Amino acid sequence: MGKNKLARFAENSTFEHVLQPSFTELVENGLALRGKWNADFFKRDAPLVLELGCGGGEYTVGLGQLQPQKNYIGVDIKGARIWRGARTAKELGLANVGFIRTHVDHILKCFGPQEVDEIWLTFSDPQIGKARKRLTSPLFLDRYKQILKPGGVIHLKTDSPLLYDYTLEQIAERKLPVHEQSANVYAELVQRVSEEEQAVLNIRTYYEQMWLAEGRTIHYVRFGVQ
Ligand SMILES: C[S@@+](CC[C@H](N)C(=O)[O-])C[C@H]1O[C@@H](n2cnc3c(N)ncnc32)[C@H](O)[C@@H]1O
Repeated sequence: MGKNKLARFAENSTFEHVLQPSFTELVENGLALRGKWNADFFKRDAPLVLELGCGGGEYTVGLGQLQPQKNYIGVDIKGARIWRGARTAKELGLANVGFIRTHVDHILKCFGPQEVDEIWLTFSDPQIGKARKRLTSPLFLDRYKQILKPGGVIHLKTDSPLLYDYTLEQIAERKLPVHEQSANVYAELVQRVSEEEQAVLNIRTYYEQMWLAEGRTIHYVRFGVQ
């Protein structure tokens, strides 16, 4: 393992806003903060927003700055990536941002019923040939439905036509409400939304910047789970 990675792992364990629960802790008891994120972690009542598979947490940190009235948690299994977001949040003094290093599969052990207002899925792995593992598969949508409040929403931003089309199929099969949808965020969607929404859509993640440099088109859909 590289020296950089070890240093990042070491620094993660010093961050009060980074949780790294063990598998046993999660599976046996669930996270102690489950159902109490606002009261015990953020210490204020505010809409709770997750970014799942957050990587370097560009949306978690970017939204944390743009919308300080909400609380944000980035979730990813890779400690070195979470470190990037956690470090930036600390440097910016963002008290409304936290991270959990864990598998998204444990999401029900981390958040209580109807605890969450919004979920962002940013450039999730399209899992070619492994539909069950996609973060918008029926398995995951059922989990999100449990933790989202009534009226809660999921945002999917992706370069992958496969993941985008697959998600639209899941939405149609379940007859879920679509609040916004575009096959081309920058050529179409940002032209017709408010300045506030433009600022949100214009946040560029690490992977997004790579895909844009390759000339890929970015897709977006925002939908409810009931
Ligand atoms: C393609 S990257 C995108 C990262 C970031 N959202 C971005 O746009 O730059 C996918 C991320 O999802 C994380 N990931 C994939 N499956 C996961 C899972 N089941 N649980 C937690 N993290 C996962 C990976 O570690 C990786 O950081």
